[in-house]
Amino acid sequence: MTTIIDGNAVADDIRADVSACAETLADEGVTPGLATVLMSDDGASETYVSMKQRACADTGIESFHHEIDPDEPAEVLYDRIDDLNADPSVHGILVQMPVPDHVDKATVLERIDPMKDVDGFHPENVGRLVSGNARYKPCTPHGVQKILAAHDIETEGKDAVVVGRSDIVGKPMANLFIQYGPGGNATTTICHSRTENLGEKTRSADILVAAAGVPRMIEGSMVSEGAVVIDVGVNRVDADTEKGYELVGDVDFGSVREKASAITPVPGGVGPLTIAMLMYNTVKAASLQSDVPVDLP
Ligand code: GUN
Repeated sequence: MTTIIDGNAVADDIRADVSACAETLADEGVTPGLATVLMSDDGASETYVSMKQRACADTGIESFHHEIDPDEPAEVLYDRIDDLNADPSVHGILVQMPVPDHVDKATVLERIDPMKDVDGFHPENVGRLVSGNARYKPCTPHGVQKILAAHDIETEGKDAVVVGRSDIVGKPMANLFIQYGPGGNATTTICHSRTENLGEKTRSADILVAAAGVPRMIEGSMVSEGAVVIDVGVNRVDADTEKGYELVGDVDFGSVREKASAITPVPGGVGPLTIAMLMYNTVKAASLQSDVPVDLP
């Protein structure tokens, strides 16, 4: 029997814990605040940001949304970040990626106060993660750890294979897997666009995380019997639907579910966790900045 993992159920439990922590903070006069900044006309990015705002409302977090015309000079975004860094009602800042080509991504990530960097992308926070002293774990890979833990899937001593080396998912995912402690201690391989004999590597996985951004690239023949398959991909492909597209993962669900012991669907798998962990980091940020302790799991 293959378990189809219900990401919404895992996310619901986390959101309940986060809401309780938001209430603890509110009782002490601290309303957690998240600023979202969108400098893009991309429909998918607009959708993601509005989902993040809605999740704030559902968990007792105040959201402050900022839109910047993508044709504006980069300095407009940099100055906005400075303003948000200085605003005490804002505990977390999220600049939705990707930003336009004329904006320097590294400057954006470094400009955000590391204490407000709820994405965990600032070099200081990346360094802390790598050295085993994470402040804010990046939301998607942290969510993957939460899914595995919720399903009692042990990582210790297991072969984990991550397909994709993005700064947002692949690299931090692999880093979390190699850390000491729960959710870590895995023997970890990172595969990417230059990997040779990809199928050989993916078939060695007890836990396979697909995060390459290539629709349905992981097929049944690339997965070993009994593997746990986590699909991080969210790809819009043309389809005969009302919107003209459908969302598919990096995993060919139909063939891989025949082999996997557990698999996340798209949508409804990892996606809800990404947003829940952003709420988690925002509440943690509010706690750290106000010195009001909260009991986040
Ligand atoms: N774009 C796609 N995923 C993410 C994310 O997790 N954070 C930000 N800031 N932008 C993204």
